Amino acid sequence: MDIKGVSAIVTGGASGIGAAVARMLAARGAKVVVADLQEEKGNSLAKEIGGAFCKVDVTNTQDIINATEMAKSMGPVRVLVNSAGIGWAQRTVGKDGTYESAANLDAFKK
Ligand SMILES: NC(=O)c1ccc[n+]([C@@H]2O[C@H](COP(=O)([O-])OP(=O)(O)OC[C@H]3O[C@@H](n4cnc5c(N)ncnc54)[C@H](O)[C@@H]3O)[C@@H](O)[C@H]2O)c1
Repeated sequence: MDIKGVSAIVTGGASGIGAAVARMLAARGAKVVVADLQEEKGNSLAKEIGGAFCKVDVTNTQDIINATEMAKSMGPVRVLVNSAGIGWAQRTVGKDGTYESAANLDAFKK
């Protein structure tokens, strides 16, 4: 696929999988908006790959609109990669099967 000159939004783009994808897209000619909570890492990566950083909390609709408008100003928006997030493996119910040993579900909700 030819992605030269298109713009891309990568949420969670400041770290991990998102950062790797942002670098890959930029290497193939896309203009990338690194959309993340982390300003320092996001700005640094955006500078490295010739893209732009937008401070985004993916739970905030206005932040998403801001990132989309930024991407629109950089080229036709053709790519969206959602990699924002946190998560880890945990039991929801303990091996003994009781309610008391169930994990705190706040982490799951977040
Ligand atoms: N690394 C893995 O092997 C793996 C496997 C399966 C699923 N995942 C999932 O893929 C996603 C990315 O994983 P990763 O390893 O690259 O994680 P990571 O922690 O390196 O990167 C996640 C990025 O998301 C950003 N982020 C978190 N909450 C945000 C929010 N509300 N708005 C905007 N940005 C936010 C963080 O600031 C961070 O830069 C996570 O949801 C993770 O659970 C990862």
